[in-house]
Formats: sequence, structure tokens, C-alpha cells
Amino acid sequence: MRADGGPAAPVRDLDDPAAFASGDPHGVRHALAAFPAQCREALALTAQPPLAQPEPPRVLVVAGMGGSAVGGDLLAAVLAETSPVPVLVHRGYGLPPTADRRGLVIASSYSGETVEVLSAVESALARGVPVVAITTGGALGRVAAAGGLPQVTLPGGLMPRLALGYLFLSAVAVARAAGLAAPPPPAAEEALDVLTGLGAALGHEQPEPANEAKRLARALAGRLPVVYGGPATAAAAYRWKTDLEENAKVFAVAGVLPEMQHNEIEAWRDPAARTMHAVLLREPHEPAAIAQRFALLRELIEPGADGVSEVWARGAGRLARLLSLVSLGQWTSYYLAILRGVDPWTVPVLDAVKRRLADGTTDGAAP
Ligand code: PA5
Repeated sequence: MRADGGPAAPVRDLDDPAAFASGDPHGVRHALAAFPAQCREALALTAQPPLAQPEPPRVLVVAGMGGSAVGGDLLAAVLAETSPVPVLVHRGYGLPPTADRRGLVIASSYSGETVEVLSAVESALARGVPVVAITTGGALGRVAAAGGLPQVTLPGGLMPRLALGYLFLSAVAVARAAGLAAPPPPAAEEALDVLTGLGAALGHEQPEPANEAKRLARALAGRLPVVYGGPATAAAAYRWKTDLEENAKVFAVAGVLPEMQHNEIEAWRDPAARTMHAVLLREPHEPAAIAQRFALLRELIEPGADGVSEVWARGAGRLARLLSLVSLGQWTSYYLAILRGVDPWTVPVLDAVKRRLADGTTDGAAP
């Protein structure tokens, strides 16, 4: 029986086409294979009506949850290189006080039904903060239409985490339209080339010995994955964690160097480390100080850990490097789901939480 209640038995052969037909009935592998095309399509999406702010915002707040917030993390990571304007990713109800009339809120919700994002929009409208909606529709689409707010309308039919290309790259376009120094079109072209190459290298038809994602999934099976990024790739490490949780339904830890060497590094002395497999997200030409910290990390944890894998970002620009790491994580979590016999598409518990919130069966009153 599948861990999510379905009928398929766990499979072991990641090169058996039948494993994908039975283990992935909703076709996540096709959505992942279409990720480069999705990113290209996203670059052409624009807000309607267009943004009308005369000045660039003083602060950019991306309000979103789960798969719709990760695009904000990636946006913050790419803008950190080029723009002095702070980018806050707000995961929760309402808005932080920093969001005022001179700021800009991107309300990001694939379904358009996420209560925290709707609450953020309500706060923004009450405070007179400009808002742009990025969504397929839903209640957020209706609020945007009623208020004449700029809205990027995304194609539907995906799970939110599988729509990352739409959510992230349309947010990049919104930032650029707002006057922020977002990555220019050549950076996006490089990222698309890198993703297209990776799609061929990591797809389900690529046999395991030559497929980095299949080999990583095999290494992570039955272990606790612990994913570490550097300062520029922390957002990708966090995305690995959430993809492993939602697609493969396993616990996963994400951390960032050098900070983890001031706390978490001590925990690797615990005998439990023997059940943990670290994945280090590396970048070619990363700063020498960061390369040194990764080397130190490996030296310190490898003797006690189940294993340590290093994966390398592709491309020269930050956009390509981040998206290549994200893409590798998506495929790895996908193959881990197939190995475990869980459906990588469905998120039944997450859906139940949303249902309980919508039907009011949990009032949350303190005892
Ligand atoms: O990946 C997912 O399905 C979730 O993390 C959702 O993104 C999250 O629950 C928020 O929903 P939405 O993206 O529709 O706003």
C-alpha cells in the first residue's frame, strides 16, 4: 500500500517505465520536463493593468505561502545582487509595518485562495500600499479585478510548487516593471539554456548511472536529507527541503553556511548523524571564504554522517545557478517519491488543513 493510501507497491528500479506509469499517475514527470518551457512562457507574462507607480518602491514585500512564497525567496536572492531595495518575503497573516505607501506588495498565490495572502492584501488595501497580484484567479483574482489592481494571470492546472517558473519569473518581471534592477533578458536566456540542458540530463528516460537526480534520490532513500546552501543559494536549499517534504513526504532539514557553523554543527556529533545524508549546494567560483567553509563542513561531518553529496550549480549568472539547483532538487524529490511509492502530486494532509480552515471545524479558541 502507498504511504498516502494508494495501491502501488514501492518500486526500486528507476529505469523501469512501468514504475512511472503506476507511481506517478498525475504526470509530475511531464510537468518537470516542461519546466524550461514554463519558464520561457512566464517571461512573456505581464501585469494587466500595467503598474502605474512613478517611483521604484522603497521596499518590496512578497506575500505568499508554501510553493507560492518560494518565488519570493528566489526573487530576494537575485535582487540582492543588483538592487539596494530590500525584499521581504512575508509568510503569514497581515503585513509587517515596513510595508507602507512607498512600498510595493506582490500578492503571490497560485490558487488565489490562500487565507494568509488574502489577509495581506486586505491589510495593504487598508494602508494604501500598492499591490500586484500573481495568481491563476480565485478570491485573489476577484479582489484584484474589483479593485483594478495590476494582476499577472497564470495558467492553471498545476500544483503550486510545480508552477514555480510562472510564480518566480513573473515576479522578476513585476520587479523590473516597478523600476527595480532585476536580472536583464540575457540572464534569463542563459537560465533557460541551462534548464533545457538539465531537463534532458535529469528526465525519467535518462538511466540512473548517468542521471544525477536518480543517483541522489537513491542516496537519500531511508536517510534524513540535510541540505546546506551558501549565502547566495540558501533559497535553493530551502526549496529542496519543501520539495522533499511535499513530493516525497519525508522530513528534510535545510541550513545555510556560514551560520550553521555557529550552532547546528554541534548537532552532527549526535549518533543520529549516522542516519543523515548531507547535500551541499555548491557554486563554481563561489567566494573563497565560502568554499573554505564547505570544505571544513565536509571534513567535520563526513566521519559521523551516513554520507555527504556535493552538487554544483550550472551557469554564470545567479538566475541560472539558482534555477539549476532548484531543478535538480525538484527531480531528486520526485525520484525519491517514486522510490518510496508515494504519489508526488497529491498533498492530502495539506489539503485537509485548508478544508478545515474553510469549513470552520477548528475554531482555535484557547482552552
Ligand atoms: O505547494 C503547495 O501546494 C503549497 O505549498 C501551496 O503553495 C500553499 O499551500 C499555498 O497555496 P497557493 O500556492 O495556492 O497560494
